Amino acid sequence: MKEDLHDQRKTYAKKSLLRSDLEENPIQQFQRWYYDTKNDDSIDEANAMTVSSIGTDGFPKTRVVLLKYYDEYGFVFYTNYDSEKGKALQANSKTCLNFFWPSLERQIIIKGKAEKLSEARSDQYFASRPKGSQLGALVSPQSKVVENREILEDRLANLEKEYQHKEIKRPANWGGFLVRPESIEFWQGRPNRLHDRFLYSLTNEYDWKIERLAP
Ligand SMILES: Cc1cc2nc3c(=O)[nH]c(=O)nc-3n(C[C@H](O)[C@H](O)[C@H](O)COP(=O)(O)O)c2cc1C
Repeated sequence: MKEDLHDQRKTYAKKSLLRSDLEENPIQQFQRWYYDTKNDDSIDEANAMTVSSIGTDGFPKTRVVLLKYYDEYGFVFYTNYDSEKGKALQANSKTCLNFFWPSLERQIIIKGKAEKLSEARSDQYFASRPKGSQLGALVSPQSKVVENREILEDRLANLEKEYQHKEIKRPANWGGFLVRPESIEFWQGRPNRLHDRFLYSLTNEYDWKIERLAP
């Protein structure tokens, strides 16, 4: 079985990114680009991003999660702390987030360190989730091997009964990670592969240096 994709190529020509276009703060620049996704009906789940971790086996692994909050401190997503990524990020906090919005021909790459979000903030978000999602968090031993789907469905049915009239508390092994950025790259596709790339790097606690990178 084979498929030759060598001739599959696309010209990026929708937009440009100039130094004079940039905000001095990368989170503000992120927000500008994030707002642009809201005006593009073809983008579904603009907040879907990949998060990479270096596993305890030494291999990097990347998977999609949903960005739920961002501000000047960083980017927040929620997960199971005992999952593969949860364990990996607690052992090695260095991580990389990636957003790709094909219709805008844009990519954002964020390197930083992940830390557990405060329990209060995780509680707050957990409490706001629909009951089905709350129960899902209780049911699923994320990233563990399961014998079959029925085990999960039976567990869910039992918990649905148990919690029919009860509030569900956030399990201690479920919560948020805050990724504090140390560098953020903005990539805009351009013709002839001469794409625009700008890298913001943190030079001290607050100041960002901005450099153009070769495509
Ligand atoms: C669109 C999309 C959104 C997802 N959002 C999340 C999320 O917010 N949190 C999460 O733990 N997993 C999410 N997942 C599932 C993860 O990609 C992954 O399968 C899961 O977290 C287990 O990863 P791990 O075994 O590497 O820890 C999402 C998957 C997709 C495709």
